[in-house]
Amino acid sequence: MIRKLLKFFTTRKVVVGAAILAVILAFCFLPPSLVVFPRNIALTFTGMPASTQTITWQTGRYSSGSRVEYTKVTDTLHSVREGTTQQVATDRGMITVHSVQLTDLEPATRYQYRVGDGLFWSSYHTFTTAPAKVESFRFLLFGDSQGNSYELWQRTLKTAYARNPDVAFMMNIGDLVDIGLSYDQWNDWFQAGQGVINTIPVMPVMGNHETYTTEWKIAQPLLYTGFFRLPSNGPKDLAGKVYSFDYSNVHFSILDSQLQEEAEWVPEMLASQQEWLKKDLAATKKRWKLVFIHRPVHHNRPSDGDEDLRDAFTPLFENYHVDVVFSGHDHIYARSYPMVGDKWTDEKGDGPVYITTGRSGKKTFGRALRKNWNTVYYNPMEQPNYLTVAVNNHSLKIEAFKLNGELIDTWEKTAD
Ligand SMILES: [Fe+2]
Repeated sequence: MIRKLLKFFTTRKVVVGAAILAVILAFCFLPPSLVVFPRNIALTFTGMPASTQTITWQTGRYSSGSRVEYTKVTDTLHSVREGTTQQVATDRGMITVHSVQLTDLEPATRYQYRVGDGLFWSSYHTFTTAPAKVESFRFLLFGDSQGNSYELWQRTLKTAYARNPDVAFMMNIGDLVDIGLSYDQWNDWFQAGQGVINTIPVMPVMGNHETYTTEWKIAQPLLYTGFFRLPSNGPKDLAGKVYSFDYSNVHFSILDSQLQEEAEWVPEMLASQQEWLKKDLAATKKRWKLVFIHRPVHHNRPSDGDEDLRDAFTPLFENYHVDVVFSGHDHIYARSYPMVGDKWTDEKGDGPVYITTGRSGKKTFGRALRKNWNTVYYNPMEQPNYLTVAVNNHSLKIEAFKLNGELIDTWEKTAD
């Protein structure tokens, strides 16, 4: 009898254990379109950073709602905000992108939040709103993070954030992923960023690789535009790709340099951006003006190119006194002398400074060359790099670091 009972329970334990294991494995290896728990949470700004916070996350195609529970970390009562959903078709099936903009938040305040549908919730995360008044702040800037894996991007991102936990937000200069229409690469990118991009906002710039398919053809960047919620103040035909926002005393203008890839769908994209940028820069009263464009208008490739971008934008950068134009694409770190047209004198000259930001992922570019207008040039072949930008009313300070913490460049511009 005892032996029978023992056998019964042993058999049952094995069955129950196998069932639990099967459920765990099923949850771990569900195709993206059947995922029920929220994942790939990211914060962005779509409104005033002092009073709003936009939160985006993903689930599979079947979802019963979008909800954010949030509270000041000093409070116990939760508020709930319902969000919107968008179905995004990917190469791994249909998924749902959830989005909520929290409004009426208090400035300079730390909030705790979780996202879900009411049944399946994320764990709790935090974010901090911007101060209401102009104050000094810092942000992180990353060059191209693209690659066939995202472990190195994760190391660069997490190392930079661990060394600079006070940063208000981060930016990525484009070519976030190598294959922009590959869901798996985006999933790896977002997963690598958890702990950072669900704690501080990430403001991305679109790169050419965001338009590439798994067959290396060009397509509309529907995963990039589907996954990020960004300010809608850009030209209508470039929604989600061209935008501007303010943080403290800085105006940020983000452009789309993918003429070669996107002209088929947006034939007037250069004229459209010229017209928009002119109005955008003319309207701002902010002390500092920074522009972000993936392809550099002054590049470090062996052959010439991108004259159309240079001709279209550099007069506007100069006329409206843009301080720095940041770019990516060439995977090197380079800082130019201040430039007017294609002329420069020395470090104290007039005109914007052009900085190419290097690489934060695993992809390198060995054929890049130092150009005459570069006062600093470094090709990060052996390890990735990142930038910190510190701003107050009197100065703008940019520093570039290797992953191992070694300083590549430091540059400061003081107010006139
Ligand atoms: Fe690129």
